[in-house]
Amino acid sequence: MITRERAEFLIDRFKDRKIAVIGDVILDKYLWGDVERISPEAPVPVVEVKRETYNLGGASNVAWNLSALGVKTVILGVVGKDENGKLIEKMLLDKNITPNLIIDNSRPTIEKTRIIAVSQQLLRIDRESREDLSTPIKKEILKSLKDISSDVEGFVISDYGKGVIFEEIVKFCVSTGKPIFVDPKPKNFNLYKNITIMTPNKKEAYECVKASTNMPLEEVGYRIMEQLSMNTLLITLGGEGMALFEGKSVKRIPAKARKVFDVTGAGDTVISILAASKLSGGSWEESATLANYGAGYVVGEIGTAVVTPDILLDTVLSY
Ligand SMILES: Nc1ncnc2c1ncn2[C@@H]1O[C@H](COP(=O)(O)OP(=O)(O)OP(=O)(O)O)[C@@H](O)[C@H]1O
Ligand SMILES: [Mg+2]
Repeated sequence: MITRERAEFLIDRFKDRKIAVIGDVILDKYLWGDVERISPEAPVPVVEVKRETYNLGGASNVAWNLSALGVKTVILGVVGKDENGKLIEKMLLDKNITPNLIIDNSRPTIEKTRIIAVSQQLLRIDRESREDLSTPIKKEILKSLKDISSDVEGFVISDYGKGVIFEEIVKFCVSTGKPIFVDPKPKNFNLYKNITIMTPNKKEAYECVKASTNMPLEEVGYRIMEQLSMNTLLITLGGEGMALFEGKSVKRIPAKARKVFDVTGAGDTVISILAASKLSGGSWEESATLANYGAGYVVGEIGTAVVTPDILLDTVLSY
C-alpha cells in the first residue's frame, strides 16, 4: 500500500539521490531485418539487415533506469578494449550516468546480439568470457569502488554472474554501512552476506537455497534471509507480483499491469525504484509497491522501456 501523497513525496525526492551501480555491463544489440529466401548454403533463412539498434544491458540497464528516475548515478563495471566498450561509455554519458569502466585487455565487452525478422527473434549471438577476472583487474575495481563510495548513499549490485561481483566487493560495500540492494545470481549466493535486501525472481530464489519446487515460498524466503543474515527480502513473481519479507512477516503485492508486451528488464526496473524510494525515506512496503507499479508499466511497453518520475506518478495515480 502507498497513499497518493506518499507516492508524490517520495518520487519528488528521487532527484536528490546519489547511487552507485556495480555489476556486469552488457551491450544489447538488435539486428532488424527481413527474410526473403532460404540460404543456398544451408537450410537456414537469409536475413537482410535493415537496421541496427543498441541498448544498455545488464548492470548498465539498471544505471539507465536509475538515471531516468532522476537519480545521480555512477556505474562501476568492466569492458574490453574494443569499440563496444567505447559505445557503452558514450551511451552512459548521453544518459547522464557517470561511467567508471575498467578496461580489461583479456576479454571482450559482453555483447548479446538478437537477430529479429518477421517480428520474431531468430537467433541470439553472445560474446563474452566467464573466466574469473585477473587479480590486477580486481584491484582496479576495488580501488575505483573505494573512490566512488564516499560520494553515494547506497549501492545497487546487479550481478549477471560474469565476474565483476566478487567477495571483496560485497565486503567493502558492507563495511561502509550504507544500504546495499542486490539483484542476485544464484551461483554467487554465498557472496551476499549482510547485505540490505535482495530481489531474486521466484526461480532464482529457489535456486539460491537449492529448494525443491514443492517447498512453500515463505520457507524459501526465510531460509535465504537466515543464511545471509538479512532482515528483508523481495521475491518477484512475474505476473503474480511480489512477496515482501520483513522478518517473519510476508506481504503479497499483486502485479499491476494493464497490458503485457515485453517482460525483459522488469527486474532492473524493480531494483532501481526500490533503491531510489527506500533511500528517499520510503518504508519497504511503500518502496516495493512503487517498484511493482513501475515494473507493471514497463512490461506493457515494447522493448526495454524505462520509467521517469512523471510516468511512475501517473501510473500510481491511474489505479
Ligand atoms: N506478466 C506480468 N504481468 C504484470 N506484471 C509483471 C509481469 N511480469 C513481470 N511483472 C512485473 O515485473 C516484476 C519483475 O518480474 P519478474 O519476476 O519476471 O522478474 P525477473 O525475472 O527478474 O525479470 P528480468 O527478466 O528483468 O530479469 C514483477 O514483480 C511484476 O511487478
Ligand atoms: Mg531478474
